[in-house]
Amino acid sequence: MANDQVSVHGGWASRWVFILAATGSAVGLGSIWKFPYMTGIYGGGAFVIMFLVCIALIGLPVMLAETLIGRRARQSPANAMRDLAVAAARSPRWSWAALAGMVNALLILSFYSVVGGWSLDYILGVGRGDFQGVDGPKAGALFGALTSDPWRMTLWHTLFMVLSAWVIAKGVVNGLEKTLRILMPLLFVLLLLLLGYSMTTGHFMEGLHFMFHFDTSRLMEGLLPAMGHAFFSLSVGVGSLMIYGAYMPKSSSLGKTVVAVALLDTFVSLLAGVALFPIVFAAGLNPGEGPGLMFVTLPLAFGSVTMGQIVGLVFFVLVAIAAWTSAISLLEPMVAYLIERTRLSRVWVTVILAFICWLVGLGTVLSFNLWEQAKFFVSEAGHFHLYQWGAEGGLNFFGVIDFLTSRIMLPLGGLFFVVFAAWVMGREQVRDELSVRSPALFALALFLMRYVAPLGILIVFAAQFWN
Ligand code: TRP
Repeated sequence: MANDQVSVHGGWASRWVFILAATGSAVGLGSIWKFPYMTGIYGGGAFVIMFLVCIALIGLPVMLAETLIGRRARQSPANAMRDLAVAAARSPRWSWAALAGMVNALLILSFYSVVGGWSLDYILGVGRGDFQGVDGPKAGALFGALTSDPWRMTLWHTLFMVLSAWVIAKGVVNGLEKTLRILMPLLFVLLLLLLGYSMTTGHFMEGLHFMFHFDTSRLMEGLLPAMGHAFFSLSVGVGSLMIYGAYMPKSSSLGKTVVAVALLDTFVSLLAGVALFPIVFAAGLNPGEGPGLMFVTLPLAFGSVTMGQIVGLVFFVLVAIAAWTSAISLLEPMVAYLIERTRLSRVWVTVILAFICWLVGLGTVLSFNLWEQAKFFVSEAGHFHLYQWGAEGGLNFFGVIDFLTSRIMLPLGGLFFVVFAAWVMGREQVRDELSVRSPALFALALFLMRYVAPLGILIVFAAQFWN
């Protein structure tokens, strides 16, 4: 196995660049947009605690597994798994798990780009002063004006996709570093500023209480969503980290690096939640309001403080960039794979895949307006309908994609990756890649990867059906 060389796609200049790139991938809309709104829907503290448990016991071991597979094989996910399986005298069909993961990444990108587009729209809106002095209902109405306009959403979705494809077409290992080195710390500083603002709202304790106090009766309800979101937030389960691992220098300690990225990502999520909820309560908004939560809440904060216009502008620029550095990690695995498998150039592969994602994304755009009433998986009075227009329950197009990608495919992808690394590749290879010095730490990592994570995933699935 060619594990001392670099991949045909290039390599990161140092371990630091890998940390930046992986953090750039992990920290994104998942932490700032999705985590707060899911916390709101699934009962606050009950969701937060389940999320943290899933990160530590399931997400982290899978993250280790995924990165080490990539670094071992130095190829795109599907080829990595095929070659490593063959080297271990197992079936080359293991690569199917990676293929499914890469397809899942593209499905995620399809809606990710739409929401990334919202943040672009908000850069303009906040910068122009649209939100100065607004109250809760007005902020809600401004968000509604965006989501009810398919053309406006499509415009920003297109721009976001083009920006993402542009980086990928140029090659991900070049150019990313400079952007990340400045912007990630800046995002962090602005989140702290936002936190400072939250403390002045007079509802800070209420926000904290909401996030960390839990009602045991709601723990089970949020379990599968929390596990799915742990994967989403860490960027594991589709091959993003596998391909980034493939570009990682051999000399650096993978264990420490991966733990650092997971801690940073989790910290940003908690920070975003702690900063947002006091504003939600101060404005009398509903924490369970759904995907619009951040987009309704933040303008309220920025609209009511001095310099809010400029700080808000910078904030949405950073959200957009955080989303952008995540989106590229969703596109890169399949791009690398097709470069390896076909004669097409990087540019062509990128253009074709980005176009397909863009097209699927139009379904998400429409599910907020013209297709809002198109419901799938409806169960009504004991009857189940695959599709029904205007039904009460059920999921719209965005709901279906989100459910399928985050709750089903991410955990399944993670399950295959962790089983593959811990059981198929074997102990010695794992030891060699993880390069942890302490035997006790290695034993712990292996135990988590072999037993805790795979069983944890299966138990969460089983608990869901049993409920
Ligand atoms: N983790 C990113 C976020 O939180 C999104 C993301 C990037 C992702 N790559 C991924 C999610 C791979 C799942 C799988 O915004």
